[in-house]
Order: sequence, then structure tokens, then C-alpha cells
Amino acid sequence: MTDLKERIAAQLTAVRDRSLAYTAAEDDLLVRQHSPLMSPLVWDLAHVGNYEELWVLRAAAGITPLRPEIDDIYDAFKTPRRDRPSLPFLRPAEARDYIGGVRGRVLDVLDAVDLADPSPLRRDGFVFGLVIQHEHQHDETMLATLQLAGRPGVVRDGDLPPSLSAGPEEVYVPAGEFLMGTDSLPWAYDNERPAHRVDLPAYWIDRLPVGNAAYAAFIEDGGYHDARWWTPEGWRWRQENGVFAPLFWTREGGTWWRTRFGRTEPVPMDEPVQHVCWYEADAYARWAGKRLPTEAEWEKACGWDAAAGRARPYPWGEQDPTPELANLGHRAARPAPLGAYPGGASPYGAEQMVGDVWEWTATWFDGYPGFRAFPYREYSEVFFGREYRVLRGGSWAADPAAVRTTFRNWDYPIRRQIFTGFRCARTAAPEER
Ligand SMILES: [Fe+2]
Repeated sequence: MTDLKERIAAQLTAVRDRSLAYTAAEDDLLVRQHSPLMSPLVWDLAHVGNYEELWVLRAAAGITPLRPEIDDIYDAFKTPRRDRPSLPFLRPAEARDYIGGVRGRVLDVLDAVDLADPSPLRRDGFVFGLVIQHEHQHDETMLATLQLAGRPGVVRDGDLPPSLSAGPEEVYVPAGEFLMGTDSLPWAYDNERPAHRVDLPAYWIDRLPVGNAAYAAFIEDGGYHDARWWTPEGWRWRQENGVFAPLFWTREGGTWWRTRFGRTEPVPMDEPVQHVCWYEADAYARWAGKRLPTEAEWEKACGWDAAAGRARPYPWGEQDPTPELANLGHRAARPAPLGAYPGGASPYGAEQMVGDVWEWTATWFDGYPGFRAFPYREYSEVFFGREYRVLRGGSWAADPAAVRTTFRNWDYPIRRQIFTGFRCARTAAPEER
């Protein structure tokens, strides 16, 4: 096997081990719906296998369908999450059998395939990258479900580096063009393409994500009770839902507590805030006298190397993520303290842009100029418009295989169960330029 094939095989195994570990639970936990926002866990499990069958076995290798009768059950577009408990989905033992059978054939296809084949699905192993990233994204979704279910002990709560860096509150990004998106990263999704020049005026962006201490100050200053900081939609959402703090936070005895995978603990004030929706992030930013960064501002601050005139795949450069550079890959069931990764800083000095928490941006999810759907419209294109806001950077529950400077995620502005925080930005004043 070539190096690339070996890397693909290792990544397929690693992600499957994780999916199986997160679903190594009693059947009742797996078939139940823990929140109308989420699928039953066993649906996610068989869905990743079905997706792998559709794309690797059928589309790329032309193999006859194994279980065509279950395709509709696992088509995310046919049944919204809230209705999935009523589907005749495979029970846990059958689901494990099915995905194992698919995987065996996928490894045979990998063995035989020519990765230099010009077919866009096979070239550079694109279709394998597609299913690997897809399964990682579902593992993160499963973790959000397990957090909502209050399930303890899912992720080992490993050690993370302490806060190491000191520095300014904001970093400066001078005016100028940069190259947004990519034409060259082989496993990048259609929505990250094509690379295109974007010209931005000068701005400041927070060196670090907004922390729990700063967010608690917003709450204590009456931020949730002051319509001035909120958009009209955000204010309506806040009032209708009686929200007064991030999801999973409670106040008792003068202390903020949070519940994390079934355990209640004091909110660690030195961590990035997580489980806030776009409306909360946007309101905080206005209260702080700033705003959310646009998606372009976020990407430039994360990866643009002005001296070299090119974009970096990661803020620190070309090197793959390591535990010293970023908090990715489920190493601990939480974000790392603010300032834990000075070595992971971007060329402009922004830190923790990759890992820890997904970061809300001000931008609606849309196609870049020249966008072409590949391999199917339902991956990205059907979500374009003014319904979803872009999230960037990946969380502690994202895997390095599905995180890079150009990677785009999106969700409804009301979503809080995802591992999401934010940082603020502001346009540079004329005298600051
Ligand atoms: Fe999916």
C-alpha cells in the first residue's frame, strides 16, 4: 500500500473506533431520543455506514447496493431529526453488523483503487476523505447528544496545557487583500472552493476567544435584560425562551455552575465560553463595544501569511495539529484555558483559532464566487442563503481530519447544544491605521 492508502486506512480505523466507543452503551440509550434537536445515537451510527456505502461503494466503486431498502431511513433530508425516533431504523446489533459489512468492502476498494485516477471522487482519495470527515462530524454530533443526555464518562477527561501566554486583548490586521478558500487542499469540501481574493479594511480581532469570566461579567451587568445589545430576532428569542446564561449553566450560592457530561462543577472562569448561540454571541459583542468578525476577517486572521503571500492550512503553518498546538480530537471533554497554546498563534498573533470551541461569525452561509457543487448539492448548496450562520475553527470535539483554516461549518443562529463560543472584532479607527 502507498503512504496515502495507509494513512486513509489508519484514519478510517481511528474514526470507527471512536464511533463504536461512543455507542458502546445499553440499547435503550441508543434508540431513545434525548432531545428533539438530535437523532437517536444508533441512527447516527448506521447513517455513517450508509453514507459510506453510497459514496465509496456505489458512487466511486460501482458496487451493487447492499441494503437499498434502508436508504430512505438514513437520508438526512427525508426525515428531520425530531421525527427520526419513529423511523424503522436498524437496532444496535444490526446497525453494527451493517456498518462493519460496509467497512470491510470499503477497505477492499481502498486496496484496489488507483488514487492517481483523474476521477474527482477517486483522485487523492477524495471520497475516503469525504466519509472520514463525515464520520468525525457525526461523532461530534453524538457527543452533543451525550452531553444533552447527561451521560458521564464518555470522553476521557484528559490533561490540557495550562494558560501560558500573556499578550494584548486584541491583535491588529492591516488593510489589504488575502486569498480566501482553497483550490489545493485535496480533501477540502466544495464550500471551501474556489480560492478567491478578498480585500478587507484594517481591523482588530480578539487574541483569544471570549472567556467565561468576561461572559459572566456581561450577565452580571444585566446583558440578558437589556434590549439595546440584541438584534430584534435575538431579543425575541431571549424573551420567548427565558434564557439568562449559556446552556448548561446554573446559578447557586453566588457561583456559576455548569453541567458537563452529567457532572456539575463550578464554571472554570479561565476557559472560553461554550454553548452560546449566535444571538448571545452577537449581543455580548455589542455590549463589549465590538462586533462579531465576518467570516473573511476570521479566516484572514487565522491563516493569512502576508509575508509569504499565501494562506496557511493551520494558524501555525503546515505542520499537522499536535497536543502542544491546539485542543482537538477529544483529548479532554472541555475547552483548554485561555492562552494554553501560544505556539499555535497565527501570523497576526491570534491564538486558539483552531480547536477548543467553534466560533460564530457575522456571516450567513453562502457559496464563494464561482462555487460549484461537488459531489452533491445537498452537502452545502441547499443550505446557502440567510438561514445559517458560519462557524469556524473547530472545537475540542472536532477531529484534526475535519479542521483547517478554510473549513466552514454552519448552523441556525439559535443553536446552543453544539460546542460553540466566539471572539469579537472591530473595524480599526482612522487614527489606528
Ligand atoms: Fe450526515
